[in-house]
Amino acid sequence: MSNITLHTLTSLKEAGKKFTVLTAYDATFAHLMSTAGIEMILVGDSLGMVLQGNSSTLPVTLEEMAYHTRCVAQGNQGAMIMADLPFMTYATAEQCMSSAAKLMQAGAHLVKIEGGAWLADSIEMLATRGIPVCAHLGLTPQAVNKLGGYKVQGKDKSSALEMIEDARRLEEAGASLLLLECVPSLLAEEITRNASIPVIGIGAGPATDAQVLVLHDMLGITPGRRPKFTKNFMEGCNSIEGAILRYIDEVKNGTFPSEAQSF
Ligand code: KIV
Ligand code: NA
Repeated sequence: MSNITLHTLTSLKEAGKKFTVLTAYDATFAHLMSTAGIEMILVGDSLGMVLQGNSSTLPVTLEEMAYHTRCVAQGNQGAMIMADLPFMTYATAEQCMSSAAKLMQAGAHLVKIEGGAWLADSIEMLATRGIPVCAHLGLTPQAVNKLGGYKVQGKDKSSALEMIEDARRLEEAGASLLLLECVPSLLAEEITRNASIPVIGIGAGPATDAQVLVLHDMLGITPGRRPKFTKNFMEGCNSIEGAILRYIDEVKNGTFPSEAQSF
């Protein structure tokens, strides 16, 4: 398989075909999922929860993200690698650029940052210097304390309109991708329709151009309560590879996510 690039993902969007994203934090899983056909691997700061056992992503450091990005890059077979900039490593545009540079040098192909229109300057600064950026909107877990919990975002009219405007401004600033977490399906559909860049969804319904899940959630091994938008793909499968292949299949044929996994 030839290497996946932003061009591949944009072409898939234009052709009306879905692509798939999963989180990975090490070489073995990166190898397995990229070989199975996952187009993009997210080195998510969710590792603060699923690897480190914290109750939020806030404790994760840039050095830890760089370490896991290096591990993933070692095993990856041609997928795009997206790495999260962790909490408070992109508070200003200059800080965003120097933090992003560390993850790009660790092997990321693009970085993801959480927030709305205030990120426009940072995105423009990175994009003009050759670093593609994904803007994460909706439920932004690094802001959990401000949001007052892990809740669906954009439910009322004014917050929905604000998210539509944020998406527009961040694309205009030079974002290469958008990611929507925990937003009503209809709002995600509208943002996806308006955007000429690919939109990845998690808990955002079936209309986005791509889906992402946390690996541990889709393998059904995350301890405690699991969010409504996840699905255990190990059920009825006898291997991890089988579960990943089923996830790819269900996203591409439109059976995941269903109503049961959407808002
Ligand atoms: O860190 C992560 O895994 C993420 C996804 C939930 C989108 O940001
Ligand atoms: Na994240």
